[in-house]
Amino acid sequence: MAYKLFVLPGDGIGPEVMAEVEKIASFFTQEGSAAFEIEKGLVGGSAYDAHGVAISDADMARADAADAVLLAAVGGPKWDAVPYEVRPEAGLLRLRKDLKLFANLRPAVCYPALADASSLKRELVDGLDLMIVRELTGGVYFGEPKQIIDLGNGQQRAIDTQVYETYEIERIGRIAFELARKRRKKVTSSEKRNVMRTGVLWHQIINRLHDQEFPDVTLEHQLADALGMQLVRAPKQFDVIVTDNLFGDMLSDVAAMLTGSLGMLPSASLGEVDSQTGKRKALYEPVHGSAPDIAGKGIANPIAMIASFGMALRYSFDLGALADRIDNAIAATLAKGLRTADIKGSSTEPTVSTTQMGDAILKELQGAA
Ligand code: NAI
Ligand code: MG
Repeated sequence: MAYKLFVLPGDGIGPEVMAEVEKIASFFTQEGSAAFEIEKGLVGGSAYDAHGVAISDADMARADAADAVLLAAVGGPKWDAVPYEVRPEAGLLRLRKDLKLFANLRPAVCYPALADASSLKRELVDGLDLMIVRELTGGVYFGEPKQIIDLGNGQQRAIDTQVYETYEIERIGRIAFELARKRRKKVTSSEKRNVMRTGVLWHQIINRLHDQEFPDVTLEHQLADALGMQLVRAPKQFDVIVTDNLFGDMLSDVAAMLTGSLGMLPSASLGEVDSQTGKRKALYEPVHGSAPDIAGKGIANPIAMIASFGMALRYSFDLGALADRIDNAIAATLAKGLRTADIKGSSTEPTVSTTQMGDAILKELQGAA
């Protein structure tokens, strides 16, 4: 049975980095290790140019029917003036909303060969492998009321509201515990229950979930400010971190800098398991954007996109061994000294192109096959 991948290369460097993933997917299919059926669609500015919307209803339906969606990046100066509702980002937002993707997974992995690119000392990050699980559809970004009120005395009052309900905390907590079970069996849950009622509920629900369903996983709690400190003091203490939308947004960017370049960071956004098919909706995409400054030059780093495909293998298809092969091929390629411009650091080797990096990773995969 072939896995149905819906591929959205998007704008800017998107098609350049996605091409390297397509090579790897066809290699796996040829090799017989897994079969992928790839359908392609348009998202972002390229969809706007073709259809006048950031993603068409037809492509939304294909995304919905696929086993996993891979997206590279959207946006760029060409579309700066298009109406707000059809701006490139609207395509991404619609995918997240319509597929109900409530869990954002951002791994921070530091490849030994790149440990010197981190903002921290090598010994603090060498071998780092943590996962931030951020709640993506609730919290202060969406809670009501959300408004700016004119007080009539020359003053205004701005209000955002943090709201979480039991089921939202349970489902994100369950994702974190299930991930930890397949990793080093430790979850750190983070909120600010000392000052926030949502934090009190969060803490209580996560504790209950742990005791009832995941007693085999170690659970600890850290207040979000303290956790920020620990992330830059001793990041290797963490395995899986689970937190709300706002804290997760900030902490995942902090964690990103522990590992070096934007061109290295993959992500996954997961939805609920469909009770009929038993499948989970999921979108995999690099953390970086469309990089208009280097688009069309063939120099973008394809690793974040390739690692995002690796996450799809691991989390949508249960092909953990194939995902490991991808991770090992990336590590081996970096260990041999290959560097795209963004991760060159102090290396004196000539930099490689997008295609050269993709081909080198593919060659490692073929060698290890
Ligand atoms: P960006 O991530 O596109 O680029 C930031 C910097 O990192 C640039 O100097 C770029 O050249 C570099 N960079 C990014 N990815 C790289 C890669 N794979 N290899 C080598 N260098 C890489 O963020 P920026 O410049 O703020 O946004 C550019 C456009 O992308 C905007 O239209 C923005 O709205 C959009 N964007 C889209 C995202 C998405 O599709 N998820 C996320 C972030 C931005
Ligand atoms: Mg952010």
